[in-house]
Amino acid sequence: MIGNNPMKREVDYLVIGSGLAGLTFALNASAAGRVALLTKRSRSDASSSWAQGGIAGALGDDDSFALHLQDTLVAGAGLCNTDAVETLVQEGPERIRELMEMGAGFNTEIDEAGNTVLQLGREGGHSRNRIVHTADYTGWECERTLLEAVRNTPEIEVYEHFFVTDLAVGGPQGSPECLGAWVVNAETGEQSLFRAKATLLATGGSGQVYQHTTNPQVATGDGAAMAWRAGALLANMEFVQFHPTTLYHPDARAFLITEALRGEGGILQHDSGEQFMEKYHPLKELAPRDVVARAIVQEMKRTSAECLYLNVSHLPSDLLHSHFPTVTERCLSVGIDITRQPIPIVPAQHYQCGGVVTDLHGVTSIPRLYAAGEVACTGVHGANRLASNSLLEAMVFGRRAALHALQHAPTYSSEQPVPLQKTSPETDSAQLASLWKQVRSLMQRNAGIVRTSAEMQNALGKIESIRESICPTVAHMEAVEAVNAIQVASLVLQSALMRKESRGLHYTLDYPKSVESERHDTLIYRSAF
Ligand code: SIN
Repeated sequence: MIGNNPMKREVDYLVIGSGLAGLTFALNASAAGRVALLTKRSRSDASSSWAQGGIAGALGDDDSFALHLQDTLVAGAGLCNTDAVETLVQEGPERIRELMEMGAGFNTEIDEAGNTVLQLGREGGHSRNRIVHTADYTGWECERTLLEAVRNTPEIEVYEHFFVTDLAVGGPQGSPECLGAWVVNAETGEQSLFRAKATLLATGGSGQVYQHTTNPQVATGDGAAMAWRAGALLANMEFVQFHPTTLYHPDARAFLITEALRGEGGILQHDSGEQFMEKYHPLKELAPRDVVARAIVQEMKRTSAECLYLNVSHLPSDLLHSHFPTVTERCLSVGIDITRQPIPIVPAQHYQCGGVVTDLHGVTSIPRLYAAGEVACTGVHGANRLASNSLLEAMVFGRRAALHALQHAPTYSSEQPVPLQKTSPETDSAQLASLWKQVRSLMQRNAGIVRTSAEMQNALGKIESIRESICPTVAHMEAVEAVNAIQVASLVLQSALMRKESRGLHYTLDYPKSVESERHDTLIYRSAF
């Protein structure tokens, strides 16, 4: 897949991805060596930048680690790793404070004693107000803050428009390790091998596997696909989170309508004004996300509606403008004034809860390879992620991975051989784009919120035959992305078919109940090389 004489570059730590996990790792690792941070587009093109809601942290007087833990475990539907969640909730507030010390401007308010305190919002599944936020562009504020810190850290070199085609795996027979990555400069086509003591995968999620997603274009499942090709262990890929409320408009791509609007009192309703959440959950609009998304799908089916509505027009107009400027302006740009009219919404793919298996230090099953953020499966999310736990997870485990790498990455030997990637006949880019489109539509129809074994089996058959017939033109990023997305689609379906029950985000009509004997992670890896 790659030319014969790639340029070789050596660094201490290699970071693939420029979202919160990658930036946090880079900043912590820079204390002990040179860091190369690769990003396939520009540095702020990361899913983290798009996160509206916020960062969950047990910071309120009425809150505790135990309550945040409990809410996360309930959302995770029996599959969270309790140790990972404990780590998350206990270390989270410290990471939030660090961000503030670096200059992140979170919303504040004056409490009863006259002190300035963080303004804590509420989202679905949280029993307390604990969402630290910057209006409705929290992810962007965090990303901006960390990028500024990276800019002031000379040990970190950021390579924009450098895309990774594969991990470089080599080393002693029988115990391969990750020695870096094969990389292409998207602007010049130049190919290189980055070698490092430790490599972090922080490539985010895989929204582009589906037709409708809240994710940016960059979310093509690169990390999960590369890790799978390298032989790493992945888990729980069937748990794909659909956000219940994304803007439905013929001229606009799916756009996130933050859950924080429901936290403020937004109401889900039909075109007629009929409300329905009471039928589905005692927490109504603030029920866990999977419950709300399924309720919307069921109501749409019952009434043959193309979309439903989120009504926030009863909330004060100045609150909507000051707390939700992104949503207000985006809706206005397509002619919807949310202060006066309900917002048309449909659910869309939002978050990959499974991923590359790690321990509590970001360590994967391949020595010297770490993973953090959405690409990783730390065990925090289980079968369903609690809202606003993802930025937190990226920072908590991105830092832990860096600290582990500093301490444990063994001395790097430049003599360690890295086998060249195999070359194969290449598939035309235009043909790949068309195959990817077919796959996205198959996934949307057959691997969505309500699934059946027959539909998933059928889609898997088609996707596998597409996958086996293709090989990317390595110098073209879109071709590599298409191959990665198609690979991840196959992993989602294979994992979903392995789970003979419904749990959390995986709901199948063939096995509509949760079964105790099925309450385990779905593990998947590439066994044959
Ligand atoms: C939202 O703002 O609704 C998204 C928050 C999240 O996905 O955690």
